[in-house]
This record gives sequence, C-alpha cells and structure tokens, in this order.
Amino acid sequence: MHRPAPLDGQPIGLLGLGIYLPDRVMTNDEWAEYVDTSDEWIVARTGIHTRRIAADDESTADLALAAAGAALADGGFEPADIDEIVLATDTPEVFAPDTAAYVQARLGVGQIPCYDLAGSGCAGFVLALDVARSRALADGRRVLVIGVELITRLMNWKDRNTCVLFGDAAGAAVVGSGAGAIEILAATAGTDGTRSDILGLETGGTRQPVTMERVRQGLHKNLVMDGREVFREAVRRMSEASLRVLVKAGVSMDDVALVVPHQANLRILNAVAARLGLSEERVFINVQQYGNTGSASVPVALWEARDQGRIKPGDLVLLTAFGAGFHWAAMLLRFQESPGMDSGC
Ligand code: UT7
Repeated sequence: MHRPAPLDGQPIGLLGLGIYLPDRVMTNDEWAEYVDTSDEWIVARTGIHTRRIAADDESTADLALAAAGAALADGGFEPADIDEIVLATDTPEVFAPDTAAYVQARLGVGQIPCYDLAGSGCAGFVLALDVARSRALADGRRVLVIGVELITRLMNWKDRNTCVLFGDAAGAAVVGSGAGAIEILAATAGTDGTRSDILGLETGGTRQPVTMERVRQGLHKNLVMDGREVFREAVRRMSEASLRVLVKAGVSMDDVALVVPHQANLRILNAVAARLGLSEERVFINVQQYGNTGSASVPVALWEARDQGRIKPGDLVLLTAFGAGFHWAAMLLRFQESPGMDSGC
C-alpha cells in the first residue's frame, strides 16, 4: 500500500514497538566454566549478571521476525500495512542476501523494498530509525525497523575479554505518520572512520577471507576490541550526541524525562549520566539482565522503559548509542498524550 507525500499533518514517529528475547538465560557463573573469569569480576567491571542466548535452532531472522510481529501487533498493523523494511545487524543470517530479505519473505509483506543497515554496530537501530523517518517524510512510507543481534554465535567463546559482555535479542518499531506516534523530534549521527580498528567483527570479507588456516587459529570468530579505548569513545560520543540532538530540537536536558542509552556496560552508562548531570532515575538501565545486545539494545530498553511505566504521556525521551565504526547516533522522542500502546514479547 502506498500513501502519498506530503503527509497528513500527523507527527512522524514510532507507531508500534516489539521485542524478542531468547528463553535461555546464561549466568556469569556459567561463563566461568568456559573461560578464566568470575561473577565478581564481570559484575564489578560491567554490571552484567545475565544474558540471553539464542537456541541452536534459532537464527537471526527468527529473532527479527518475532520482534517484528510484536511491533506490528503493538501498533495494530497487518503485514500488508508495511511499505519498507530496514534491518540493523552485524550478525546477519548469511553474508548475502541481507537478513531483511529473509524477514520480508517470512513476514508476508509482499515484494516491498527491504535492506540491511549492516556493520554500524550498536548504533544501528537509532541510525535505521532516522533512515525510516526520512523515508516516511519523503514518500509517506510506513517502515518496519528492526535491530537484531545473535552475536553469541559469531563471537569467540574462549576470549574472556569480549565473550562475557554480549547477549542475543531483537527489537522492532513501525515508523510512519499517525496520531498516536511517539514523535521523532530530532536526530543526529556521526562516524569517525579513523577509529574502525578499536572495535569490530573481523570475520570473512575481502581483507581477511576465511581460510582453513584462519579457522585453525580461531580467527573465523574474530571480535576485536580495545576495551579501554571503546570505553572512552563510548562515553564521549554518547554524551556529545545527546547534547547535540537537544540543541537541534531546541530543548534542554532539564526537559528530558528519560535517557535510554545503548546498554554496553554499567560503568559506561554511569559515566554518561555523570557527564550529562543526570540522576539515576533519569537513565534507563537493563544491561544487568541482558548484557550488550548490539543494535537490539536500544529498542529492547525503550520497550522495557515503556512497559515498566517509566515514560508518561508527553515525556521527552532521548535515545543515544555508539558502535563499531566508530559510529554514534542520538534521537529525541516525544511520547503522545495517549500512546495507546500495550504489548508483550
Ligand atoms: O559493542 C561492543 C562495545 N564494547 C564495549 O562497550 C566495551 C567497553 N569497554 C569495557 O567495557 C571495559 O574496558 C571492559 C569491561 C571490556 C574491561 O574492563 P577494564 O576495567 O577496562 O579492564 P581491563 O581491560 O583494564 O582489564 C583488566 C584485567 C586484565 O588483566 P591484567 O592484564 O590486568 O592482568 C584483563 O586480562 O582484567 C582481565 N580481564 C578479565 N578478568 C576476568 C579481562 N576480561 C576478563 C574477564 N574475567 N572476563
């Protein structure tokens, strides 16, 4: 279905939200069976207690599809109401085609355009929301945005520096114009490509194709990370992006009811809160339960914040994220007086 632009004067924003979390909960003590670590170390350095692990028979498209179905139901949409799909992931179904193609076929949305926003790390979902907003503005489209990560299957379970940090999840939103939309007021994003070496999933591709030798060395699951540098960049970029989006929207931090940041590490979140002068209640944190779920982290956190009643009608909510690239993105949302949303996963 195609709606003509310009739009009907309704706000553009999120019309439905959904998430999917795999059933299996993995504790820190379980990690101690795989690598030389402890619950004490992981909690002290990251704040993480548990994470979800996808079942062996689940793949990225399965997680994405479950979240997408929940988002459609949340907004009261049928698959036929969707005009386009943008899917953010660094852990795709296969190298090509993109995961969005698999989701499109299984969702039954018809032959609408769909594509992945790949490789943008944990900033992917917020970037994809902004792309969707432009599609809605330019062409009156209703876009399904998905952030999904099944990182535990592509990371090295023997590298204690990285493996304990991550978890699997998916989140989705329907973006378009509508009276009940969680309005997108402003967005900002940036990339510093000179920092592409501090964080990445350097697996496959033309620079380091998979060979028997690389597999023998375990380099087919090569999640590279300079933890301290990523930490510094994360705090700086998420804080700066937050301030920039406020300027763009013409509001101040005092006007913001809740900040929903990418959930990478509790210490990163506390440092961002300190830089922005935010009290604990104004920052939503669920990294303790799910670890870092990449591009699924922001939609899962936003969904939970709404579900837990942390957001009231009329509230301004600020999303901020960073990811491999090094990318960053922030977005300011305004919840409507009657969001009319109520869903489960
Ligand atoms: O999308 C991915 C985003 N990534 C991130 O957000 C990561 C950002 N960085 C961080 O969160 C932190 O840098 C880490 C949690 C990764 C590490 O914390 P840290 O306070 O920076 O620790 P460190 O790197 O300075 O390591 C301290 C020690 C090292 O031992 P030595 O060299 O001092 O003997 C590590 O080998 O901790 C050791 N270590 C561990 N020990 C037990 C590293 N990982 C573990 C572990 N268990 N899992």
